[in-house]
Amino acid sequence: MKVIVAYKSKYGYTKKYAEWIAETLGCDIKENASLADVAGYDTVICGGGIYAGRINGAKLITKNLGRLAGKKLVLFAVGSSAGRSGELEAFWEKALEENVREQVPHFYLRGGFDYGRLGRIDRMMMDMLKKMLLKKDLLTDDDKGLLAAYETPVDFTDRENLNELLQIFPK
Ligand SMILES: Cc1cc2nc3c(=O)[nH]c(=O)nc-3n(C[C@H](O)[C@H](O)[C@H](O)COP(=O)(O)O)c2cc1C
Repeated sequence: MKVIVAYKSKYGYTKKYAEWIAETLGCDIKENASLADVAGYDTVICGGGIYAGRINGAKLITKNLGRLAGKKLVLFAVGSSAGRSGELEAFWEKALEENVREQVPHFYLRGGFDYGRLGRIDRMMMDMLKKMLLKKDLLTDDDKGLLAAYETPVDFTDRENLNELLQIFPK
């Protein structure tokens, strides 16, 4: 079975998970892969960071289910939030259309956040989010965690987080 990990990563968190997957499965890996890049593979594992609820690079499979018919597809999304089950359900419902949710096994993996490394646009978005959070009367634990992360970078990447995804691939 020929497997490829196709990923997009702005700050390296998804890259780290993609590399761990490729290392574990002994498969190929490609950043910013196109449809042509994945054509010769039986299995495509697609991953990207979450930006304002959308999965960076997921279009490679979500918009090409027809063209990728017959291949085994897996999707992983990397975000900085805790990924509690109720929130995750709402996230997947917004991020993926129903047919994709049904056909493609999908996994949330916790990445990290480093305000100091953000590009200009990302920084502006996060500044807006911070202003919104500071206006809230009641902050959730996640809100507090996010606000703290503006001051101190966080990195939750952990190989163990891949256990569930890797179970799809018997040794
Ligand atoms: C502008 C911006 C928006 C973000 N939106 C979300 C979000 O909606 N949910 C989430 O869990 N994380 C969000 N994050 C955090 C990123 O998903 C997190 O840093 C992730 O690890 C990035 O992965 P990458 O470096 O591989 O692209 C956001 C980060 C930025 C800079």
